[in-house]
Amino acid sequence: AIAQNKIIAHTDQAKTVIDKDIYGHFAEHLGRCIYGGFYVGEESAIENVKGFRLDVINALKEMQIPLLRWPGGCFADTYNWKDGIGPKSDRPSIVNVHWGGVTEDNSFGTHEFMDFCELIGAEAYVNLNVGSGSVREAKEWVEYMTSSNKSPMTELRKKNGREEPWKVKYWGIGNENWGCGGHMTPEYYADLYRNYATYCHGADFKIAGGANVDDYNWTEVLMKKLSRHQFLVDGLSLHYYTIPGGWSHKQSATKFGEPMYYETLQKALRMEELVNRHSTIMDKYDPAKKIALIVDEWGQWYDVEPGTNPGFLYQQNTLRDAISAGVHLNIFNNHADRVRMANIAQMVNVLQAVILTKDEQMLLTPTYYVFKMYSVHHDATLVPVNLESEMYEVDGKKIPALNASASVKDGEMNLTVCNLNPNKDIEFEYTVTGDTYSNASGQIITGSKINSMNDFGKPESVTLKGFEVNKPKHGKMKVKIPAKSVVLISLSK
Ligand code: AHR
Repeated sequence: AIAQNKIIAHTDQAKTVIDKDIYGHFAEHLGRCIYGGFYVGEESAIENVKGFRLDVINALKEMQIPLLRWPGGCFADTYNWKDGIGPKSDRPSIVNVHWGGVTEDNSFGTHEFMDFCELIGAEAYVNLNVGSGSVREAKEWVEYMTSSNKSPMTELRKKNGREEPWKVKYWGIGNENWGCGGHMTPEYYADLYRNYATYCHGADFKIAGGANVDDYNWTEVLMKKLSRHQFLVDGLSLHYYTIPGGWSHKQSATKFGEPMYYETLQKALRMEELVNRHSTIMDKYDPAKKIALIVDEWGQWYDVEPGTNPGFLYQQNTLRDAISAGVHLNIFNNHADRVRMANIAQMVNVLQAVILTKDEQMLLTPTYYVFKMYSVHHDATLVPVNLESEMYEVDGKKIPALNASASVKDGEMNLTVCNLNPNKDIEFEYTVTGDTYSNASGQIITGSKINSMNDFGKPESVTLKGFEVNKPKHGKMKVKIPAKSVVLISLSK
């Protein structure tokens, strides 16, 4: 079997930098992501800094979170940013129409978001309101946040306690404008985008709301209408959720058998096809790859946990999600020439979260450990890999059992490899061409079952552990990785 499974990493072909922003996260005003998730308010009995949970801050710093997107999602196209500034007692309460119809008291707004980014050491990605807002409101928000000049907006910012402008790395102009962001046609949205982009002075990196899954026409129209005005657009987004069972038959996050496990991973692998096909269209209009493909919503979407608000999208997270995250991140790394930013949905307590909270308790999900393990790839140089893998078969259907990506940084060569087969340990021959490495070490995320998870009040069952590997000889080594695992192999000189 050894001849069947091969990974050849070409350090001599390393050239593209993997932007660390591929490891970005997303926090929407949705369920318990912000309120109760990482923001509890200064009066809370839970230990906090400026109202932000200390345990969550520490966990995110430890994971090296590079970037956070806010305030939505669908919420962004309903958001009036002026509701979320000034004294909290004066801020209006509104109805969160998309997410459970609950009261949004606006106690978390622009200043709180930027304070939080500063505390966790993340860059900010702010999504403007196109669906129900106006060009003027968007223009004023950008000015409020980024201008150092004197204007009514900057005076207002100063009055609210912030003297210096902030640095906002990315700006999204609308979200899912084919759906919750206004049900627009691509032609109409592209024209509207041009209007917004023209007036958002100070928004250095502007992202157009891109396609839903395989809506290639959306990408085609946007590229045709926007790419010739390159000063107007720096990125085009793409949203793809992995939904075993499909939208109308979503499945349990924790109770599933092997067929559903297989379907999940097979659907996760579809990200490769989507990135390839959207990139091919982008290449036609932008062969120099100046415009980035931004996968600003991705992840697993299951049924909510029984007994929880269906509008809050709260789901548990298992080893299956860790493997799926490993696959997604390998795909993004391997396409780093076009994919320069991504955001998993969503950071805390919503969809494929890295952190779950329950009152004063907090846990780190299997997906958290993948982000922590893969932080070796942040701003490292992608090393192209050739992968020959045996197949993993279920009920006559099959997908490759192995999935990998590699990068080099500061003299260290890192390979992340997932074994999708839950029934079989897999041995492969690992060859590194170019540079010579003599030391090896490893890390692993695995569990006893495909649905192993971490739960409140119990010891962790899926975590990051050391993994023994032999040293390479003459640029080659044999590695055997356990069934259903995500493994990091680090080589040094
Ligand atoms: O992440 C949850 C929702 O999924 C977002 O608000 C929306 O953009 C997408 O449909």
